[in-house]
Amino acid sequence: MSVVEIVDHPLIQHKISLLRDRNTGTKEFRDLVSEIAMLLCYEATRDLPTEEVEVETPVALARTKVLAGRKLALVPILRAGLGMVDGMLNLIPAAKVGHIGMYRNEETLVPVEYYCKLPNDINEREVFVLDPMLATGGSACDAIGQIKKRGAKHIKFIGLVAAPQGLKALHEAHPDVDIYVGALDEKLNDNGYIVPGLGDAGDRIFGTK
Ligand code: URA
Repeated sequence: MSVVEIVDHPLIQHKISLLRDRNTGTKEFRDLVSEIAMLLCYEATRDLPTEEVEVETPVALARTKVLAGRKLALVPILRAGLGMVDGMLNLIPAAKVGHIGMYRNEETLVPVEYYCKLPNDINEREVFVLDPMLATGGSACDAIGQIKKRGAKHIKFIGLVAAPQGLKALHEAHPDVDIYVGALDEKLNDNGYIVPGLGDAGDRIFGTK
């Protein structure tokens, strides 16, 4: 059974409220995205395997645990997913980072992959696909489909804010993928924005509005 988790930790709720505020400027927005990604990373890595080791403390020998060395990869969906990479790497610095870019053909609405570069051993890695906004779920479903085609077998999706449609679409298209998001909002508007949401995450991260 896969996990679908709204990680409603008080720190995440607080920081997402700050993100939602239209008066939050680019630098603060970027820092908050990074911090929330780090908090979500903490939750999404809860099931990483550990192994026992012996460590000499200044006082005695301790039998304690370290990560068992599972290989990890981050794959931000361009461009807004890039804002989550540093926060994730703060906690899992050995992860490799791939990139995937998708756009939707405006006439056919068919998703088109315009860039994809993944670690060669993606099939051996636990992959965290990153996108702050899970709106219709279209890009996440397609990106994950492409990443699977290249061999990835263990995938988790991490987002900041989801719409109910997006969460449902992603879970139905990829029932094997664990989903972690910081907030589940009310709906999408006619322009495909999450309501109440936080606006265009990419524009707010990169100051391109
Ligand atoms: N992408 C965004 O950046 N914001 C939304 O509300 C929906 C999709």
